[in-house]
Amino acid sequence: MCGIVGYIGKKDCTEVLLGGLEKLKYRGYDSAGIAVVNNKEIKTVKSMGKLENLVELVGQRNDLESHCGIGHTRWATHGEPSDVNSHPHGNARITIVHNGIIENYQKIKKFLEKKGYVFESQTDTETVAKLLDYYYNGDPTETIRKVISKIEGSYALGIIFKDFPDTIYAVRKDSPMVVGVGKQELFIASDIPAFLEHTKNYYLVEEDELVVLKDGKAEFYDPYGFAIEKQLHTADFDINVAEKGGYEHFMLKEIHEQPKAINDTIGSLINDGLPDLSESGLTKEKLGNYNNIFVVACGTAMHAGLVGKYLIEKLARVSVTVDVASEFKYRDPIIGENDLVILVSQSGETADTKAAMHLAKEKGADTLAIVNVVGSSIAREADMVIYTRAGLEISVASTKAYTVQLAVFYILTFELALVKNKITENQCREYIHKLQQVPDIIKEMLETKDKCQFVASTLQNCTDLLYIGRGLDYALSMEGSLKLKEISYIHSESYAAGELKHGTISLVTEEMPVIAVATQKDLFAKTISNVVEVKSRGAKVILITNEDAVVSPNVADYIIYVKGESDLFKPILTAIPLQLIAYYTSVIRGNDVDTPRNLAKSVTVE
Ligand code: M6R
Repeated sequence: MCGIVGYIGKKDCTEVLLGGLEKLKYRGYDSAGIAVVNNKEIKTVKSMGKLENLVELVGQRNDLESHCGIGHTRWATHGEPSDVNSHPHGNARITIVHNGIIENYQKIKKFLEKKGYVFESQTDTETVAKLLDYYYNGDPTETIRKVISKIEGSYALGIIFKDFPDTIYAVRKDSPMVVGVGKQELFIASDIPAFLEHTKNYYLVEEDELVVLKDGKAEFYDPYGFAIEKQLHTADFDINVAEKGGYEHFMLKEIHEQPKAINDTIGSLINDGLPDLSESGLTKEKLGNYNNIFVVACGTAMHAGLVGKYLIEKLARVSVTVDVASEFKYRDPIIGENDLVILVSQSGETADTKAAMHLAKEKGADTLAIVNVVGSSIAREADMVIYTRAGLEISVASTKAYTVQLAVFYILTFELALVKNKITENQCREYIHKLQQVPDIIKEMLETKDKCQFVASTLQNCTDLLYIGRGLDYALSMEGSLKLKEISYIHSESYAAGELKHGTISLVTEEMPVIAVATQKDLFAKTISNVVEVKSRGAKVILITNEDAVVSPNVADYIIYVKGESDLFKPILTAIPLQLIAYYTSVIRGNDVDTPRNLAKSVTVE
């Protein structure tokens, strides 16, 4: 969602800010803007639409030379995307950028209107800018504290004051922010890529901390005004991570990074051929004693949880409930002290997942986060954390983050099955050995890309599509369907193959292609019967099945074969052609693959 960057140092601030905004684009945005201090005056430029529009406007100005400023990419929540609703907001003496939602902004707005303030935009952010102006008493930190005592909701704020032209102030609550530390230069940002080309060193800003950047130093204060000592971190990804590395899109690059991502992830969770979750704090004793296991997540991460459910129930014989995070909270779930709630999130900042975690904690359950971004809110707040090691994922459509989440669920399943005596140590070693072979088989699956490109060309003009499967194949096909719709804008649904005949099959005509996933031998015949049912109603069928499957002629129009011997690992392998089909369909349709319309990489509002 919205992205914040701020810079103070000797370089050309405008250039640094625009460079930072470029790197924040992947979060999703519909407008962008910057405000810099020039000759002791605050100069603001902002524009709706692509960052290029802002760059063009900046190019027309000759009053933006500066060494201190803030920038923003906006993903509209309150008020449509427009120039006036874009950030920064403020006036000639105080200007801000904001990420988050101010829940009581209407009340504040009314209060300020009575005091004579006139509002230009429909945003919640403008109320904060004006409230700062209202309370400003010459002391920025005191003013900021006063304002944050009045606002409710989530915020990461970057603030500049005309009277303090060499200082940036920042504060956060429920919205991420980091401070980059270079040589005689400092940054604030929503995430590290915004300043990675300048420095890898950074501080994490904790909840309710107030940050003051000046004279090459970053100072941190708690809500009572006491100075805080912070630990400096070094980002462990290299500078090229935020580059496409010769691929046409980040999504394609990230699809190809999956063998390494899975290797890195499982490598950190295996010791001597057996699962080792000790770093996470999830002991065998704890794991063996939970009454109930819940998996709560959103989108792709939730789909990883669904595969996890099938795996755990199949091998460990423990029942698992999977919930969409935005629903979990409102269904008043029956959870208590002896339950485990697993939160899955690439970003570790997803507001719905965070809210679910807070509820689980309130009810006394143990919380385990499976998270990709180190130091993210969910990782920090959960009782236990298992990190996936996918590295930075830039494309909004999640690919490598999904398969590493699956990899973690495999390990968790093996550990739980072992603890519950459902498998022997030798069997567990055998499973782990097979999992370790998966990255190499993925490399072979990547060779299906020409076939996937061809399939994509046959789908490019359709308006609706069905994905069907049973068991693990069904869980996986949900992800295939989401991937396709989010980047190709073709409507698609995923159905349990056996459920079609209870209503949905009435939609099937020659206009409705069906992608059938049938990799589980024990369910193969049943799924093929459903394939025959849709085929006989005119549907064009793309079948994704095992290399050794015996498929009668005319059952499918096109077949993509999945490598590997064991059915258990098919979801992680079958994900590859599903991702590639979605990718190429989006490319052929001329869409913005990496930043699809209306979407944000990290959804930080509920
Ligand atoms: O960062 P998270 O894993 O918590 O994000 C959850 C979803 O928003 C995310 O997976 C979303 O569905 C992706 N765009 C799917 O590709």
